[in-house]
Amino acid sequence: MTIVHIVLFQLKSTADATAADDITKYMLALRDQCVHPDTGVPYIKSTIGGLNNSKEPLSGGLTHAFVVEFENEQDRDYYVKEDPHHKAFKASINGKIEKVVVVDFTPGVF
Ligand SMILES: *[C@@H]1O[C@H](CO)[C@@H](O)[C@H](O)[C@H]1NC(C)=O
Repeated sequence: MTIVHIVLFQLKSTADATAADDITKYMLALRDQCVHPDTGVPYIKSTIGGLNNSKEPLSGGLTHAFVVEFENEQDRDYYVKEDPHHKAFKASINGKIEKVVVVDFTPGVF
């Protein structure tokens, strides 16, 4: 069953100007970098995301939003727990992020 993985970041106000671009480019690049450990084929179905541009005063400080789609729970779990490219991404934003919010769901399952 498809898993939709929503990730919201609040970049630290002290992060330099390129950090906002870098986080978006890197998150989007993971779509191609993350490959299945057995097949070597990219397993992320899709990633969209970028800088907040909401006109509502409801962002709660969150500066970036990403929606990542996985084919199934196994792929999501590999991404979250094991994928070396995802780990490298997390290391790259270490110290630049004030807050991360993650919510996953399966469409139609409630
Ligand atoms: C979200 O984007 C809007 C429009 O650019 C901006 O006014 C607002 O400050 C942003 N919120 C955050 C938390 O960055």
